[in-house]
Amino acid sequence: MKGKNMYLAFGSEVIYDDASFLIEDNDKVGVVGVNGAGKTTLFKIILKEESLDAGKITVNNKKIGYLPQEINFTDKEKNVLDYLYSGRPIEKLEKELNVVYEKLSNASELEQNKLLRQAEKIQSELDSLNQYTAEDELLSLIENMKIDSELLEMKVGDLSGGQKSKIAFARLLFSNSDILLLDEPTNHLDAKTKDFVINYLKNYHGMVLVISHDIDFLNEVVTKTMFINKVTHKIKVYKGNYKEFKRLYANEMIEKELRIKEQEREIKKLEEVVKRAEGASRTNHNLKRLGQSRKKMLEKKLDELEVREFSKINLTI
Ligand SMILES: Nc1ncnc2c1ncn2[C@@H]1O[C@H](COP(=O)(O)OP(=O)(O)O)[C@@H](O)[C@H]1O
Ligand SMILES: [Mg+2]
Repeated sequence: MKGKNMYLAFGSEVIYDDASFLIEDNDKVGVVGVNGAGKTTLFKIILKEESLDAGKITVNNKKIGYLPQEINFTDKEKNVLDYLYSGRPIEKLEKELNVVYEKLSNASELEQNKLLRQAEKIQSELDSLNQYTAEDELLSLIENMKIDSELLEMKVGDLSGGQKSKIAFARLLFSNSDILLLDEPTNHLDAKTKDFVINYLKNYHGMVLVISHDIDFLNEVVTKTMFINKVTHKIKVYKGNYKEFKRLYANEMIEKELRIKEQEREIKKLEEVVKRAEGASRTNHNLKRLGQSRKKMLEKKLDELEVREFSKINLTI
């Protein structure tokens, strides 16, 4: 996945300003940044629910699974087991395949070829969803996530907040997506289920992007950390988990502070010269000329002066 020269503002609130990033197919990435930095918005852009003002995010035709922070079920009458199983569109594809086979029986030869190609395509989709072992996979997931039979029979519309997120999470894991987008997935998980989920995500065959305030969870699961910077509106991907990111970022901030101090010293010096030149008599051509050129330099330096990101390095991200 690749983000290139992304710009986005909501009214006067800038979210991304010329932000770019690159993530590989099997990366497990923690998405961090202070509240309002644009983490959830990034997921919405990837899902095409929101669009950028400029630039783009390229996702190579992959199947994306999303666990939103707030879960809403469309079909509230569905029971939990059916809802979980619908995480892979196996029943839907099987029905489609049957329709194609029915048509085949009284089709012309020319049509038959076309229908056979269609059947082949549907079948290969079914294969990719492990049509014949999917039920077993789901059962072991149900067992591992401690979803009991009573819960399985409930209607999704009757679930409590905690049950909802657990069930939605289980369905997402079952869905076999190439990319998982998880927005605060651990809020309602008990310790044992969380352990299972940590292992599952660590070994997931695809890309995982996870927004979480659960530092221990992030440190266990992720191998990269994507930092959305609310001050500079840039995005940077760091190698390592959250702990490693914090160390790298703190070092960056120390180096940046040193650079800013130096920049401020230079600016002060230039300001002094400019001030002196302005106060000099009109006949002091040399000083006046020097003042003019220093003023230009000063403007450039002010333009290049970097912005301090935090007064404290204790990040709440
Ligand atoms: N559709 C929208 N219209 C206007 N403002 C929005 C919209 N979506 C998000 N925002 C604002 O953009 C900022 C980033 O939001 P969000 O991506 O949800 O942040 P977070 O990093 O906390 O997930 C917030 O200040 C939010 O209020
Ligand atoms: Mg959010």
